[in-house]
Amino acid sequence: MTIPSALAARPIGIFDSGIGGLTVARAVARRLPAERLIYFGDTAHLPYGEKSTAAIQAYAVKICDVLLRQQCKLILIACNSASAAAYELVREYVGSKALVVGMIDPVVEYVGQHYAGRPVGLIGTKQTVGSNIYRKKIDQLDLAVDLHALATPLLVPMIEEGFFNGRVSEEIISAYLDHPTLLGIDALLLACTHFPLIKPQMEAHYQGRVAVLDPSDVVAATVAEALASRSLLAAPVEAAPAHHFYVSDFTRSFEESTRLFFGQQVQLEHYPLWE
Ligand code: DGL
Repeated sequence: MTIPSALAARPIGIFDSGIGGLTVARAVARRLPAERLIYFGDTAHLPYGEKSTAAIQAYAVKICDVLLRQQCKLILIACNSASAAAYELVREYVGSKALVVGMIDPVVEYVGQHYAGRPVGLIGTKQTVGSNIYRKKIDQLDLAVDLHALATPLLVPMIEEGFFNGRVSEEIISAYLDHPTLLGIDALLLACTHFPLIKPQMEAHYQGRVAVLDPSDVVAATVAEALASRSLLAAPVEAAPAHHFYVSDFTRSFEESTRLFFGQQVQLEHYPLWE
């Protein structure tokens, strides 16, 4: 048996533009039940998908300061838009103080392994799709995945407003999924951490013709590997660790929505970013 170091007892920091990243936090909590999570949702600046790269980078650095002050051993960027705009910068900024995992590399590796030579669709925010980051990484690694990316900016506000599992969302989802860019794909990559909530509707739309890929579990597995390979996994615990969930702007409706994204309602703590 190896004895976990004091470093291993430190929490995992996770951040997103809002509460969408809780879908990834939930996957991490399931895979690594002994790990204490510090979640930061930058609800004051949501949506990141419509922001400039420079603005997202500035927010990301501020949030990393918060997470580093909380002694996080690993920072997970649970937002595709922030991963697209700020992953490299965050890695540089954090340096050796913590490990950094983003949404993009684990997923690129996954599609490279399972869909080489095949047509794969991708939907995400304007920031994620406009950055072309998935295509660049696929090409850098010579993975030969035939990627078809489409920005679907209506989906985040639609989900935020609670419009899913109904007629309105069905219409919007169908309009996007029937877009010529996505015709003939074998799989659809959900490159936005809000989208797992509408995965069942997308699967219903495709009726088994297209695999709908929620990257949360793949990313959670990458976090587990990153910690395990450095002997940084927390020691097993009997009681669930006390997670903390911070938001830069608090509203009751954010708190109520956590139940949908995290699988249970959690208490949000207000932590203004600029003060
Ligand atoms: N959760 C963010 C993402 O994964 C999208 C939400 C936003 O635009 O802020 O891209």
